[in-house]
Amino acid sequence: MAIKTKPTRHTTSPARDVFLKQKIATKDKVPHVITVNQFNKKQLDELFQRADQFREWDRSFESRREIATMHLGRQLCSLFYEPSTRTRLSFETAAVKLGMGLVSTENAGEFSSAIKGETLEDSISVLDNYGYDVIVMRHNEKGAAKRATKVSKTPIINGGDGAGEHPTQSLLDAYTIYKNFGRLNNTKIVLGGDLKNGRTVRSLTKLLAKFSNNEFVFVSVPELQIGQDIKTILKRKGIKFVETSDINKAVKDSDVVYWTRLQKERIKNLASIPKKGFVMDVNTLKHMPKKAIIMHPLPRVDEIHPDVDKDPRATYFEQAGNGLYVRMALLDGVLRA
Ligand code: NCD
Repeated sequence: MAIKTKPTRHTTSPARDVFLKQKIATKDKVPHVITVNQFNKKQLDELFQRADQFREWDRSFESRREIATMHLGRQLCSLFYEPSTRTRLSFETAAVKLGMGLVSTENAGEFSSAIKGETLEDSISVLDNYGYDVIVMRHNEKGAAKRATKVSKTPIINGGDGAGEHPTQSLLDAYTIYKNFGRLNNTKIVLGGDLKNGRTVRSLTKLLAKFSNNEFVFVSVPELQIGQDIKTILKRKGIKFVETSDINKAVKDSDVVYWTRLQKERIKNLASIPKKGFVMDVNTLKHMPKKAIIMHPLPRVDEIHPDVDKDPRATYFEQAGNGLYVRMALLDGVLRA
């Protein structure tokens, strides 16, 4: 049987070709996605439009079938050293919906050669030779994704690096805020929970600090307040922020209330942390404006009482759903860069 040397060209289709010119631009030659610092307003705007478009296309079987040929023949590797539900599954679902093949390890710390003592650099150097088009990774050490880029010509997407950053979470968070308010500026954002060890709040604050006239309120117990590096960024930019332990006062006049869990896995002396400090319940809702939205990157443990879920302001499940389309848009952009 004769083997065709050239791949068969697919017939053109509007769904596949409309975004051909849109790219994720980075300073690097390889389009790694490591930090929210890489994204400017124009890129966010384009990303959000693409996410909207993918959501629309996902509604009908006809366009789903078209999208599923968009990146046929490309492969994603997902390498997770830390547990994940949403980040890994939404990236993998995004890849499948775009027609990509998938290779995945969900507990790389134990199931990969890391347990035998292999360094992250060596593991990535090997994967870099398997011809993947993109690697999504999560690691327990801050700076791990950046280290991976040093040895990888394959684009690396940071799915969370210790208490460092979680850029793709912030992209979907910003998209959720934009969908609800039509803006990312002139907004009062209340961020609560374990702000010291959680990466989502760190990344989101950095991203929203790019927009004018935003105001931040950090709610936590003194032991778990936001890192000095983030406060320095805000001060340098002249952005207004306050730190408090009083939830009810903090949520007054808020637009976005972004809650997070205690990062138990990153705290050595759990007994020293007063738990009551940042639990939100229906009583908290009474102090919150009607127009506000309640967000949470999830998983929620006990820091938001389940009764809050019935409140129309609870947006966290919708927020998680947005992650799929934002990650489809991001993957598509990275693959075209
Ligand atoms: C977050 C994370 O991994 O940082 N989860 C997520 O990706 N949605 C939040 C958390 O684990 O608390």
